[in-house]
Amino acid sequence: PEPKLIRIKDATENRGQRVKVFGWVNRLRVQGKDMMFIVLRDGTGYLQCVLTNTLCHTFDALTLTLESTVVLYGVVDKLPEGKTAPGGHELTVDYWEVVGKAPGGDDAITNKVSAESDPSIQYQQRHLVIRGDTASAVLKVRSRVMRAFRDHFDSAGYFEVTPPCMVQTQVEGGSTLFSFNYYGEQAYLTQSSQLYLETCLPSMGAVYTMAESYRAEKSHTRRHLSEYTHCEAEIPFISFNDLLDCIENMVKDVVNRVWAEPETRSMIEQLNPDFKPYTEPFVRMRYEEAIKWLNDNGVKHEDGSDYVFGEDIPESPERAMTNKIGKPILLTHFPGPIKAFYMPATKEDPRVTESVDLLMPGVGEIVGGSMRIWDHEDLLAAYKREGLDTAPYYWYLDQRKYGTCPHGGFGLGVERFLAWLLDRYTVRECCLYPRFVDRCQP
Ligand code: 4AD
Ligand code: MG
Repeated sequence: PEPKLIRIKDATENRGQRVKVFGWVNRLRVQGKDMMFIVLRDGTGYLQCVLTNTLCHTFDALTLTLESTVVLYGVVDKLPEGKTAPGGHELTVDYWEVVGKAPGGDDAITNKVSAESDPSIQYQQRHLVIRGDTASAVLKVRSRVMRAFRDHFDSAGYFEVTPPCMVQTQVEGGSTLFSFNYYGEQAYLTQSSQLYLETCLPSMGAVYTMAESYRAEKSHTRRHLSEYTHCEAEIPFISFNDLLDCIENMVKDVVNRVWAEPETRSMIEQLNPDFKPYTEPFVRMRYEEAIKWLNDNGVKHEDGSDYVFGEDIPESPERAMTNKIGKPILLTHFPGPIKAFYMPATKEDPRVTESVDLLMPGVGEIVGGSMRIWDHEDLLAAYKREGLDTAPYYWYLDQRKYGTCPHGGFGLGVERFLAWLLDRYTVRECCLYPRFVDRCQP
């Protein structure tokens, strides 16, 4: 009779049975003339398979290559004592077929090749690189992390919304807008869904989205993509302190959720062996204190001059500070001129705004958030200061006319969160097909 088709992750419950498995040749080892080991991969796990005697003598066996697709039949069982292999099982093959052959040789982008080759080749061949152990583990953790963000918000009573990606307004400044021709009118790819989330508050209460955002970031950095997944939330009737708590609780809760799943935890441990969920309170620091910290700790401009109040803190000093402090930092109260138009000044000090960035060791900023100007006149004044035409924002301004309320929110870059959680060198490793300057393929 035809044996049962199983997925590799279900090997345990099929021990001692004759089964059928489909998969890709992840590793291949030929031992003498009469023995061959295949580590088979099917997306659910890895399975060691042994072929002996005449099974190894056919033409297919002699020319089998890495990444070929095969179907194998045989008895699956626990590995014999003293042997180790991924998954802890072994399939003793009694019949097999090649479904699709791979070219082998230099063309097979195996784990080894992908880890060692030139980055530009890795990105060009990313459709093959994602078959590797590391890249696929990152993508699997990403899936669980995105689910954990949704679970976090859903369990706190937020609704998820799906705002448009094609827009005619900017959120984070004109210099990073991607524009295109929309039936003869100029439109942009969205930089952030924030303004749309704000319009949902009166009928849905707290809302969130997990949507793509786009930024024309023209420089090569470890943490900038042209397209990234943006997890954004907006909450009515909160104070600035509540907002800081929301961000801190979210990061801790999402980490706890993925850490509680044994499979996800083991992938995190494989990728970032030193990782431990963070239980202490995050450091809270004002922008002004950060400027002082940089000066006190000798972090200077390239020309040796000090950082001064009012300047943006760029990626490299931000990273230097965050790494030295070694803890998550909620950096608050940035000066208005270096931040977005919608951020309100504080009552005590009109030079600074109710704004926050969350900085993580190894990456720096992973979250940006703020309270929002909620008074109509104040918002008009902010547009004027910024030199923005208010016409395309009529719907956003209406929010301040039709029953306004104090509110705030934030956005987290999913790839940056993953770069931190999984200790990846760059955010480019944390998405399926990264988009950055000079790359829009595969
Ligand atoms: O700090 P940003 O620009 O803030 C906003 O867009 C707000 N409107 C969000 C809000 O309040 N709803 O971006 C938020 C986060 C950053 O902290 C960073 O993690 C990520 O988005 N981000 C990027 N990630 C990858 N590549 C880029 N080019 C990114 N730009 C921002
Ligand atoms: Mg920011």
